[in-house]
Amino acid sequence: MQGKIVMKDDRLAQFNKVSIGKETSLNSNTSDRNNKLTIDNNPKEPSNQLKKGLLGWYAVCSKSEIKKDEPYSFTMYNEPLIIYIDKNQNLRCVKDLCPHRGASFIGGEVKEGNLICPYHGAQFGSNGECTNLSRITCNHIVDDNYNNYASKIHLYQYVCKEISDYIYIYYTGKAKTNLNDFEIKDPLERRFPDKYGFNIEDYAYEEVIVDFKCDWARIIENHLDILHLFWVHGDTIPDNDVNRKVITSFNQQIKRGKDEIESIYKYKDKRGEFIRIKFLPPGRIIIYKGEPEKSRYIQILDHIPLSNNQARVIVRHYRKFMKNKLLTNIFLFKKLQHRVFYKVFAEDYMILRTQTYNNQMGFIEKDNVKLLGEDKMVQYYWDWFKSSNIEDKPWELYPTDSDTNTVHQDIAMKYPPANNKLQKQNSKSLAINIALRLLVPIGIILIL
Ligand code: FES
Ligand SMILES: [Fe+2]
Repeated sequence: MQGKIVMKDDRLAQFNKVSIGKETSLNSNTSDRNNKLTIDNNPKEPSNQLKKGLLGWYAVCSKSEIKKDEPYSFTMYNEPLIIYIDKNQNLRCVKDLCPHRGASFIGGEVKEGNLICPYHGAQFGSNGECTNLSRITCNHIVDDNYNNYASKIHLYQYVCKEISDYIYIYYTGKAKTNLNDFEIKDPLERRFPDKYGFNIEDYAYEEVIVDFKCDWARIIENHLDILHLFWVHGDTIPDNDVNRKVITSFNQQIKRGKDEIESIYKYKDKRGEFIRIKFLPPGRIIIYKGEPEKSRYIQILDHIPLSNNQARVIVRHYRKFMKNKLLTNIFLFKKLQHRVFYKVFAEDYMILRTQTYNNQMGFIEKDNVKLLGEDKMVQYYWDWFKSSNIEDKPWELYPTDSDTNTVHQDIAMKYPPANNKLQKQNSKSLAINIALRLLVPIGIILIL
């Protein structure tokens, strides 16, 4: 049911008492003994705990999503927000609520950097002040109260910055009229992609954005989990090591710091790393194919908690190969990459939705699920989530119930797999372009 608040402080109680083995193996298909992934866990891992916190810096969209004259709307933990570029070319993230009579800015416009409400035309300047009060009020009506009124009509904002084409907001759940009133406890600089152990200049990247109608926290769990890669995505991911039919054995090492958890999977039967996964709370995951400085490709995934049962992920796929723009165009590389990504996320979708439902219904109780040694990273993540959820209670800031109007949820889902419009467009364009690439040379040969 849309709008129903389902997050509870005890939602993760099922993970409290699971036991984790030091060395375990898992058959991804019990009927096929060859289909086995084995991971040894390092018993000497440090016991540092991640700093708590579901509030703080989130990458909420990519710069390419922001159109010059149009507010970009989204939600965070049910709170409607918009981002636009002001007349000083600064990014502004404001609560999507006009302080005149409470309309949304959706359908409004940005003119010469001023945000204009679609209801009565109130216009707001860089600092959130109304610059055309005469448009919405008459001095003789408000009379001697005019100045008081003018000081109250002001936008509520969050700190909003752009780094490496990512747009970040410092989300606290309490927007303010004066940005100087925010106390930023966590420096944004730590989130620069060039701090992640690879030279960003050596890589090109493709980006896809995906939307899911499911619990935000479950998507993060999925992206921390390598076990399912072989089984769910084994036929889609173009990597010989990720295959349903291959026996793959790894040693797993987990490093737990205050700012991140890192899980490294090394091949048992050959040298080097298979994959490395980092979780940087609250919403970022980095997946390296091999050691960071040598990785052929690296994925950065940012998870955005839109509303109950709705979440968005920005996926950037950095690669060392196919960097030449002309070649990538000729071989339709971007469209092909998008097709693979949309397929991968569609493969996860039903699992995530049904898993969300099972959790909401209380079916995932501690006696009904058993985490394995391979799930250690997942367990640490839920440990962090549980304590952060108790501390910050982000879903209790703007709780909804079954009667709450779902207007924002209804327009939120713009991207696959929840909305497959872009996926269809991509497939169509791919088919047309492949046909053209085949027909043009045939046509030339025929003419000659
Ligand atoms: S509600 Fe925005 S101008 Fe009236
Ligand atoms: Fe997946």
